Amino acid sequence: MAKKVKSSYFCQSCGHQSPKWLGKCPACEQWNTFVEEILQHDTSPAQGGWRSSSSSSQKIATKPQVLKEVQFEEESRLQTPDQELNRVLGGGIVPGSMVLIGGEPGIGKSTLMLQIALQLQGTRVLYISGEESAKQIKMRADRIAHSNEDCYILTETATQNIFKQIEQVEPQLVIIDSIQTLQSAYVESAAGSISQIRECTAELLRFAKESGTPVFLIGHITKDGAIAGPKVLEHMVDTVLTFEGDRHLVYRILRANKNRFGSTSELGIYEMLGDGLREVSNPSEVLITQREEDLSGISIGTTLEGNRPLLIEVQSLVSVSNYGHPQRSSTGFDPRRLNMLLAVLEKRGGFRLGAQDVFLNITGGIKVEDPAIDLAVCVSVVSSYEDISLPNTACFAGEVGLGGEVRAVQRIENRIAEAEKLGFKEIYVSKYSLKSIPTEQFQIQIHPVSKLDEIFERLFIR
Ligand code: TYD
Ligand code: MG
Repeated sequence: MAKKVKSSYFCQSCGHQSPKWLGKCPACEQWNTFVEEILQHDTSPAQGGWRSSSSSSQKIATKPQVLKEVQFEEESRLQTPDQELNRVLGGGIVPGSMVLIGGEPGIGKSTLMLQIALQLQGTRVLYISGEESAKQIKMRADRIAHSNEDCYILTETATQNIFKQIEQVEPQLVIIDSIQTLQSAYVESAAGSISQIRECTAELLRFAKESGTPVFLIGHITKDGAIAGPKVLEHMVDTVLTFEGDRHLVYRILRANKNRFGSTSELGIYEMLGDGLREVSNPSEVLITQREEDLSGISIGTTLEGNRPLLIEVQSLVSVSNYGHPQRSSTGFDPRRLNMLLAVLEKRGGFRLGAQDVFLNITGGIKVEDPAIDLAVCVSVVSSYEDISLPNTACFAGEVGLGGEVRAVQRIENRIAEAEKLGFKEIYVSKYSLKSIPTEQFQIQIHPVSKLDEIFERLFIR
């Protein structure tokens, strides 16, 4: 009897399944995202893939256990020589875990993973690429200044073949570049489609859990920044990392968006060099440009990236607008928040910014969401407006409220300590931040302030 081919429609944006075509996805409300995908239900996908013959073992039902009696060995995490990655993962790679790493094309995902494969000397790593030929990978590896004798390359996209090779090589770590290129014979739709991604991930997940081998998946992202593929992909894996940064700038940030084995507030910073990625262990130093002369419009603020305090430079340029509608533009900082701060400066500080163009830039290609940067933004804008430079030994940490008040921010002692470590002489903070912290222990001069006016009087009165 001929196999009955069954098909279904999937939203390519969120993975919603529908028996018929729909113009608008009822789940994510996107238009025109439904694509027909052929499902072959004769061989149930749940039976396929990794050691499909042994899948009968899955039918043995497990029994509930008393939690107290569950045996637990302190999981021996695989420590990579890359401290940034170890930290983001929560202290190394957990055996049997599945990590998804997403990022824009060209950001350096393949470079990062290949570099880790090469750094792990003595660990058998299988790097599976569906995107590049072995020669191309070799060329890339030659640029990276590490080598691992036990690093195997496989250029293959069919999961069934991949599992055959895995059984031969018996790797201790598997890297897939990328999940969107894989194809399982159990699903008939094209590589990169929702049902393929889901099936291939499920097969690899089963392999990871049964064999205890950690698997890294590289994933593409869509133009709005989400990892391409159904949301279920993110639910299936243990850890979701994103590798971000501006392609034209050298800094890259590795961030955990989900982590079953650690906190999501850690992040790793790298610099893309000619010979691969270099870990940046002291990011503040590189994010602040060394200035010879004092320029107006430059201030130093503090932000927390994960648990790490960072000092960053805020630059602004305020100039008289030649057109009816003044321009406002910001890079690395929420433009709406900038508008709000400009309104506060206008209303509470009396600065006539309504007729000025304002350009704001956070240097280093970093995006800041921490409200503690507000104070540095305000001071930078006023410095440019008044054309008075700020002392280059001062930095700022505070949130600015609608009344022009300087509000407390979290972890102020870490920020002060970081500023002191980098040789700053003074830091302006909200006086409400200082209640519970021992200020005597710091050498740096701490200026407690409660309103913006107090800072302006001190800095801009000539
Ligand atoms: P790649 O890792 O292929 O990015 P992705 O896999 O995320 O698409 O490429 C990263 C970019 O980095 C590429 O444009 C070339 C550059 N690069 C370096 O600057 N130095 C290096 O040592 C390597 C290997 C790449
Ligand atoms: Mg790549």
